Amino acid sequence: MTKVITYGTYDHLHRGHVRLLERAKALGDYLIVGVTSDDFDKQRGKINVQQSLEERIAAVRSTGLADKIVVEEYEGQKIDDIKRYGVDIFTVGSDWEGQFDYLNEYCKVVYLERTSGVSSTEIRSSVKLRCGLVGYTDYMNRVFAECGLVNGLEVAGICVEDRSLLDEGPLGAELVTDEYDKLLDAVDIVYIHSHPDRHYDQVKRALNADKHVMCEAPIAKSAKECSELFALADERGLVLMDSLRTAYSTAYARMLLLVTGGRIGEVVSVDATITNLKTNRAPFDTRRDTAWSSMTAWGPTALLPIFQILGTKPNSVRISSLCEKHDKTFDEFSRLDVEFPNAVATAKVGSGAKSEGSLVVSGTKGYIYVPAPWWKTDYFEIRYENPADNRRYFYQLDGEGIRFEWVSFLRMIADVEKGIKGEEALRREGGIDRDITKATCEVIGAFERGESVKYLEFVR
Ligand code: CTP
Repeated sequence: MTKVITYGTYDHLHRGHVRLLERAKALGDYLIVGVTSDDFDKQRGKINVQQSLEERIAAVRSTGLADKIVVEEYEGQKIDDIKRYGVDIFTVGSDWEGQFDYLNEYCKVVYLERTSGVSSTEIRSSVKLRCGLVGYTDYMNRVFAECGLVNGLEVAGICVEDRSLLDEGPLGAELVTDEYDKLLDAVDIVYIHSHPDRHYDQVKRALNADKHVMCEAPIAKSAKECSELFALADERGLVLMDSLRTAYSTAYARMLLLVTGGRIGEVVSVDATITNLKTNRAPFDTRRDTAWSSMTAWGPTALLPIFQILGTKPNSVRISSLCEKHDKTFDEFSRLDVEFPNAVATAKVGSGAKSEGSLVVSGTKGYIYVPAPWWKTDYFEIRYENPADNRRYFYQLDGEGIRFEWVSFLRMIADVEKGIKGEEALRREGGIDRDITKATCEVIGAFERGESVKYLEFVR
């Protein structure tokens, strides 16, 4: 019996795939099809596969051509599979010509001519969502570049007050305006990265105009406002998600799984620090529209692991802030002490001071150490009493997680447009729980209202 093996992603199975599978099958008597896992695709830079692994496997199975389907999960697996299944022929399309010659050592390699005029990339890009970016910082340039990597998305407009920080790319968008309503008229979805004071109003206006929204955290300044926005999104069948890139980084997500899986025992403490010296305002610039306090800039990210690991119902949150005399809502550095029934947490955030930006999750058996900058990490360690038991974990992180967050946003939109409820779509994508979004808004709002805050004057 001649055994043949072939591999692919098979996103939106098309006639090119089917023709390849037919010819692969005809090369022998038994066809094994390897379907790439989501993680493996991400690792090799294919970030925007739209169908889940289950859907892609089901599509391959429905062709009736595969005698066996395996999941391709790691680099080098092809050699393992060829040996394990006693494969005689390895085949793929001619777009890979030459790239698998090294497998000749294990079996015969055949490149089959690729069917012209069709590809998953084309199918994914056939419907492009028109996206509008709202904000004013140079972060817009990065977001614009990352959006270009995501299939099915087109930046159709940008709303900024000051164009001076924008690169040529975003400046070349179809619409560059300082009028938010004009932007809303021109797009299907919006990404809001304006000053947090404006989030609630801008999110509400976008939802009322039937646009899906991704908004930089905090999306509002209280749990009440936040709940109101989620209710509005649900009522109108729209996606509303807060943007926190860390949540979409593979290393961070794996770290959470290890913690919840009990690898460090019961968690007793979470300590997160994030600082930078690049304040979001010119020195002594007190214009509220351009100034992000340390709490608004970094608070939501620092609170993320705290709420995700310890829950959203702390006994107390106390904040100590080093502020300037004239503006108490603008902190240069703050420490949050969060107390839970069985654990404690601290978050230190600073835009005017520098510290070690690490994350430590301490447990009764060991602890997790995520080195700086933990919020865009590709690496962490589990450490135990006996150093010989320590483990290190590496995961590829491209684009600081921005592109993965966008891919999740688009997948959630596709789900919601199929009639799936917003909260369910969020769960499927492993997004940030709404309770966490609400709790974050509440803490940031409390800080701005001066609740539970001890102010310490900052002396330059
Ligand atoms: N294939 C083909 N003809 C096409 C498209 C794909 O013969 N028009 C083959 C590929 O060469 C590969 C297999 O089908 O052997 C699975 O390809 P996959 O990468 O899943 O599909 P693409 O459409 O090429 O996907 P993408 O656009 O994401 O690269």
